[in-house]
Amino acid sequence: MIRACVIGFPIKHSRSPMIHGHWLKQFGIAGEYARVEVRPEELREFLGTLPERGLAGCNITLPHKEPACNYVQHLDDRGRRTGSINTVYVRDGQTFATSTDGEGFVENILWRLPSFSFSGKTALILGAGGTSRALIDEMLRRGADHVLLANRTPEKAEKIAKVFPGQVTALSLAHLDDALSCADLLVNATSAGIADAAKIVVPFARLKQDAVVTDVNYVPLVTPFLQEAAAHGHVVVPGLGMLLHQAVPGFELWFGKRPVVNDALYTLIARDIDPGYAG
Ligand SMILES: NC(=O)c1ccc[n+]([C@@H]2O[C@H](COP(=O)([O-])OP(=O)(O)OC[C@H]3O[C@@H](n4cnc5c(N)ncnc54)[C@H](OP(=O)(O)O)[C@@H]3O)[C@@H](O)[C@H]2O)c1
Repeated sequence: MIRACVIGFPIKHSRSPMIHGHWLKQFGIAGEYARVEVRPEELREFLGTLPERGLAGCNITLPHKEPACNYVQHLDDRGRRTGSINTVYVRDGQTFATSTDGEGFVENILWRLPSFSFSGKTALILGAGGTSRALIDEMLRRGADHVLLANRTPEKAEKIAKVFPGQVTALSLAHLDDALSCADLLVNATSAGIADAAKIVVPFARLKQDAVVTDVNYVPLVTPFLQEAAAHGHVVVPGLGMLLHQAVPGFELWFGKRPVVNDALYTLIARDIDPGYAG
């Protein structure tokens, strides 16, 4: 029996077990994917004993994505550049780690908008947390020309901009007008509205007319940010697909088969979030 899990604190709301459970059943693999609560003070010990625990690996979610980089034996280039990991796998008793959030983000957009290309595009990202770093890294890898990065705390955006010299410009959330007028893609990568009641307010009337808008958050499935963008006539891409696509590489690393994200899986998870989801 091959075993993997997702670790975080808190962890009870994670939908990763539903996603991996769906694929395990689909492939007929005798595997298990569990949810394990790991407190920050337990993280080092947990990751240091994955092989002894009989685990092929794990996903890592909040608040461990950044500190976990220090507790694995091999960090790939993506993990090093983004300073954040979400997927750990065991090979020959050693732990290897990567970040698949950027890939999940990009694949979600291409899944929903197959004719979209990142090549030569300017993206405006709101929020400069661990997730934004992963998005920037992957968008630039896929040929994006420039990323404008706006954050409530500008110093955090400036710190990230230094990691990608000449390709990322840090901005303040309070001065978005110029950035909105030249962005081909607008991304909400803040956690605003998730842990608190604050909403991210954007003057959508300033946004370039054909800009695509997406949100990494997916509860509700169409966030207020996306609802407002759609009301202004923009094509929007909901964030749930990112969660599904970021899970693909991990499943393949642990269970040996590459799964496919399709409408049946999307509907399964979407109905868990909103039982009224009609497809
Ligand atoms: N769809 C997916 O598969 C997926 C994958 C990964 C993450 N996510 C989601 O992505 C979001 C960001 O994750 P993260 O790991 O990057 O989080 P993080 O490191 O905690 O960063 C949070 C960001 O949100 C900003 N923010 C929070 N509240 C705000 C407010 N009221 N107004 C303006 N900005 C605010 C923070 O600004 P300051 O720097 O000023 O505090 C920071 O830039 C989370 O909600 C997470 O659940 C989704």
